[in-house]
Amino acid sequence: PPSPITPSIDPYVADNFAFAFDIDGVLIRGGRPIPEAIEAMKVLNGENEFGIQVPYIFLTNGGGKFETERCRDLSRQLEIDVSPGQFICGHTPMREFANRYGTVLVVGGEGETCREVAEGYGFRDVVTPGDILKANAATAPFRKLTKSEHDNSRDLLADGGRLSDIVIEAVFVFADSRDWASDLQIMLDIAQSKGGRLETRSETLNEGPPIYFSHNDVLWSSSHEHARLGMGALRRIVETVYEDTSGGRKLRTHAFGKPQVSTFEFATRLLQQWRAAQHGLAESEPPATVYFIGDTPESDIRGTNNMNERDQHTEWYSILVKTGVYQAGTEPKYKPRRLVDTVLDAVNHGIRREM
Ligand code: G3P
Ligand code: MG
Repeated sequence: PPSPITPSIDPYVADNFAFAFDIDGVLIRGGRPIPEAIEAMKVLNGENEFGIQVPYIFLTNGGGKFETERCRDLSRQLEIDVSPGQFICGHTPMREFANRYGTVLVVGGEGETCREVAEGYGFRDVVTPGDILKANAATAPFRKLTKSEHDNSRDLLADGGRLSDIVIEAVFVFADSRDWASDLQIMLDIAQSKGGRLETRSETLNEGPPIYFSHNDVLWSSSHEHARLGMGALRRIVETVYEDTSGGRKLRTHAFGKPQVSTFEFATRLLQQWRAAQHGLAESEPPATVYFIGDTPESDIRGTNNMNERDQHTEWYSILVKTGVYQAGTEPKYKPRRLVDTVLDAVNHGIRREM
């Protein structure tokens, strides 16, 4: 039976281990906290039998909001203070591309939010599918912009401009598409354009700009009892339909997020900074073990296990929970070090393994 949990009087900080959490399917489902998640956070914050506080960060493939706003939501949902200094979402690494490209197409998310996030990252000239549809409604015959979408979209034809004056240097899918058909059409048009110039068609169909997705999750866990289609499914569709309409040519798109090693390396740096800033631990001394808790074998467990093979200093210990994409009783494609019911079991397992 689990040991009784007593609030600590004089908590001290764990300097040799830490936790990193996936969000959807582990802590949150469909905007609501998974009940054990609130208790798990309390345990990490010192309400455990050892009175120890354990540093932790969040690493989600989700997105579509400013990091600060997402941390506010998470703070409310989990009844703790979550800081942007301990948070990475799918599009956070896209920030590093802001100076590389001039005009970019930003896809996905609610209303104008992803445009605002991209501009907040420093992207200088952001075009959205809504802007293109406002300029030429025939682009996607079955998509009608609402009045507010129309009003909030940029006027790309201002001052006698033409769509063909605009060259898209890169496409960034920041968050899940709200209209797959028109976003698919527009991404394919750009992939088959002459070097990203709108309304043109390349003779070879393969000189379009790079296309980046903020993650590659085909499925994710929301409020429905079964996992829902995610951005990775749209990515597959874009690549497949490109091939079907380009004489069999292949389209190579890129994805950030888990399980990419670069995303886990980004998380390692963030965790080190967070442990130093929040807990006064030496930034140069990494923890011996990081427990990563996820629900999706293909991104969370695969990425953590890969990281474990590469990281010389830290053991990356994968824990799979049964509250999200992974279905109890099935064989996970990527094997975790530990399979548990909920995030609370995962936290208790990690702490007891250490103490
Ligand atoms: O769109 C969100 C999703 O694919 C996964 O989010 O928190 O499980 O990495 P998360
Ligand atoms: Mg998840």
